[in-house]
Amino acid sequence: MAHVVSRGPVSGTATRTRKRKLFLVDLYSTAVGKKYVMAITGIIGIGFVVAHLIGNLKAYLGLITENGERVYDVDVYGEFLREILVPILPRTYALWALRLVLIAALVLHVHAAYSLTVMNRQARPIGYQSSRDYVAANFASRTMRWTGVIVLLFLAWHLADFTWGWVNPDFVRGAVYRNMDASLSRIPVAALYVVANIALGIHLFHGTWSLFQSMGWNNPRFNSWRRGLATGIATLIVVGNVSFPIAAQAGIIQV
Ligand code: HEM
Repeated sequence: MAHVVSRGPVSGTATRTRKRKLFLVDLYSTAVGKKYVMAITGIIGIGFVVAHLIGNLKAYLGLITENGERVYDVDVYGEFLREILVPILPRTYALWALRLVLIAALVLHVHAAYSLTVMNRQARPIGYQSSRDYVAANFASRTMRWTGVIVLLFLAWHLADFTWGWVNPDFVRGAVYRNMDASLSRIPVAALYVVANIALGIHLFHGTWSLFQSMGWNNPRFNSWRRGLATGIATLIVVGNVSFPIAAQAGIIQV
């Protein structure tokens, strides 16, 4: 019997998929496309830092009783993250899926920022652009670059501190509360967390403000709402995150 292969719909789907891929690659090669990527990955980052802060606030709930045992609430939360979707998936699989989304978002965010900077350098302003606007835009983007680099360096330290324990001699895997106390009770480390989170706050303020521009949601009628949101997110993150090193120094977070 002749083997009949229906090519029509399959190749049609393949062509459409290839066209869509090419469209995305073409879009990313433009400044507008890179700004979309910055905005979308930025929203993922904002979602993460807000969720991370809410989780960390459990440190203030101290000890709770679970299955007749006294345990730190924030340690239970850390374990919960590793157990998401168990037994549908093996332990830590769902957490790794979330981590992969975050890693991809971070890589894309940094890549788009870097290539936009290169594009801007190549296209210096000429002609009619108001020099006042240019200076303001340039100040904001320079601030974003510096605060972005500080946040990246902080993140490397932070993972070495709380996830891998390389820079914390008293690190105990899974003992989140104890690790917070051990790490943030050291004055230089506490100072580093304060400075880095202020830099993150500035980055989040400018970032939240400009993501509306990048996505094309920039009707001047919404400007005060936009400013309020940018201020609210930045303030929440700075106040929340800076509270942890202060609490550890004050003995509020203490084993
Ligand atoms: C004072 C503020 C912060 C505190 C007290 C804190 C605390 C922690 C702790 C205790 C962990 C380990 C959790 C566990 O092992 O279950 C952790 C992981 C992590 N933190 Fe933070 N964090 C802070 C700020 C930040 C900021 C600002 C960022 C991002 C810019 C961040 C990104 C991360 C990441 C990516 C992980 C790894 C998550 C994972 O491996 O699943 N943290 N943090």
